[in-house]
Amino acid sequence: MSAQQDLVTARRSMYCGQVRPEHIGQTILLKGWVRHRRDHGGLIFIDLIDREGHCQVVLNPQEMDPEHFEQAHDLRDEFVLAVEGEVRRRPEGTANPNYATGEVELKVTRWEVLNKSEVTPFKLDEFYNISEEIRLRYRYLDLRRPEMQRAMRMRSGLYRVIRDYMHGRGFIETETPFLTRSTPEGARDFLTPSRIQKGCFYALPQSPQLFKQLLMVAGHDKYFQIVKCFRDEDLRANRQPEFTQLDLEMSFITPEDIYELIEGLLVRAYKELKGIDIPAPFPRMKYDDAMLKYGSDAPDLRYGMEISELSEAVRASDFKVFKSILEGGGVVRGFAVPGGGAKYSNTQLKPDGDLFVAAQKFGAKGLAWFRAVGPADADNAGLESSIVKFFTKETLAALRAQTGAQQGDLILIVADAEGVAADVLGRLRAKLAADLGLIDKEKLAFTWIVDFPLVEWNPKEKRWEPKHHPFTAPRYEDLDKLESDIGKVYAQAYDVVLNGQEIGGGSIRIHRRDIQERVFHAIGISQEEAERKFRFLLEGLSFGAPPHGGLAMGIDRMMMLLLGFDSIRDVIAFPKTQTGACLLTDSPAPVDPAQLEELGIQVVAEDEEKV
Ligand code: AMO
Ligand code: AMP
Repeated sequence: MSAQQDLVTARRSMYCGQVRPEHIGQTILLKGWVRHRRDHGGLIFIDLIDREGHCQVVLNPQEMDPEHFEQAHDLRDEFVLAVEGEVRRRPEGTANPNYATGEVELKVTRWEVLNKSEVTPFKLDEFYNISEEIRLRYRYLDLRRPEMQRAMRMRSGLYRVIRDYMHGRGFIETETPFLTRSTPEGARDFLTPSRIQKGCFYALPQSPQLFKQLLMVAGHDKYFQIVKCFRDEDLRANRQPEFTQLDLEMSFITPEDIYELIEGLLVRAYKELKGIDIPAPFPRMKYDDAMLKYGSDAPDLRYGMEISELSEAVRASDFKVFKSILEGGGVVRGFAVPGGGAKYSNTQLKPDGDLFVAAQKFGAKGLAWFRAVGPADADNAGLESSIVKFFTKETLAALRAQTGAQQGDLILIVADAEGVAADVLGRLRAKLAADLGLIDKEKLAFTWIVDFPLVEWNPKEKRWEPKHHPFTAPRYEDLDKLESDIGKVYAQAYDVVLNGQEIGGGSIRIHRRDIQERVFHAIGISQEEAERKFRFLLEGLSFGAPPHGGLAMGIDRMMMLLLGFDSIRDVIAFPKTQTGACLLTDSPAPVDPAQLEELGIQVVAEDEEKV
């Protein structure tokens, strides 16, 4: 055994980040990574780092075998090292109060390289701008950075809080299968072929929705699971093809039970993980109000800029654009942009200007504007615009009053079909708040969105689709409209929203087979299709299913907001890119022809498909 060999096999005394003044005088063994090596020729300083932090270690030829010291010139960043030595107080004036280990250092007497490292493709410093592509390809290095280590540990902390809380509340943790049948949540399924039953496929669950409902039929009463869900949908910064839910379900409850449960969980999570007291209960807002005032069912309530219905105010005007849209059943809506909104120039507002183009990208056909340059009692209500001549003084006064525009604000107006106008204005509102710096980043604006419609119209496919999923219970008082006027039926559904992001959603479910069959029928699912796809659910509902309801929280989105990150990719250890690729493992990837043969699958080349 070499002189140093015992350092390789010996157990470390503590984490590098745990060395404290109380250890002064002790001989300890640390193991970790070399970061920030400062080689002063006669003296080498190294920050030896592990998940708990770093310890300054000093190699000095006077304090160790000089030959052994000479070899230390070859040490490089990210080498894995074992070092043994005595803890001592740092010399006068060199202590660093920013670190828990800042008062001490290790006087190394023996060291050993446990493993070498190539030069890393990026520095693993705390703050360093790296392209995401490189980060994802070398994810194990990215995750070694302190910032990402903190994120992953907070995620683990959230799991601990959730499990404590849910078990404390009497929930039973149960796993449900991944190889299963399609559970529709509005996305495409990821399919897995069966080898034994050729031509048959499992679908990876878009959520455990139907299993958790069947667990209520089974009498579990309270179920939860921290579970992966799989959805093949267009990806965005807050969406991943596989993501994690806190999924839960309860029997014999009302929505109030869910609100209280989730508020309690979020209060505890913010307290334990961030030390922040969040106020509960959360405010509640009806879906229709959210769409009108914020143009979104996940409104960001950290700032104002509420949208106003202006249709009546402008109905009598001579402005052709508004007139024809109102006559066609559309709406005219707008909002006032504070914080110097009136500084947006004519160039930015005219048809090829940046604000106009942004509105067009969001789906607007045009963007009307008024600048509040004077007080409300001035001529033309203090408004100026390229279209001011089409409006009477009374109409202008109404526009000013209803949008609440102050002097210096800009009023933006969109006329369109109701859904389009709401959506465009909602996006414009969010863009302007970000551009003008109106968002208080310290604020946490939670809200429940309630009273969702049961279905929404899909104009492309010309049919009604469930707003949530087809197992959501209609409001009792709307049941008789299921067949006659389904568009007017409201659901017993609720979402929880934080700072403009939907972090959770759920509902009271249909627990009677006859009502479930009526809903399937009303959304165009034939009896034959319902039997084929959902036989197990319908049967389950016919064997004494209790009234039940639940919700699922998006853990990745919660984590992103807890940590103040902009993308859920930063809170997932091994995420996929916007195109659904894993750059670390290069997946998805073609498979061996033999594997396909065994599965009875033939791949059609893309250009063959088009023929
Ligand atoms: P829903 O589809 O609303 O409900 O999903 C619940 C929550 O999961 C998160 N989420 C996502 N997070 C990341 N990437 C995605 N692709 C993604 N899709 C959804 C959101 C969302 O609020 N079975 C129902 C729940 C129920 O009714 O109990 C369901 O899955 O934060
Ligand atoms: P036009 O008559 O198309 O030249 O439009 C005159 C003004 O009305 C321009 O400022 C347009 O941007 C605006 N405008 C056109 N269509 C709409 C619309 N659907 N909503 C709001 N403003 C519009």
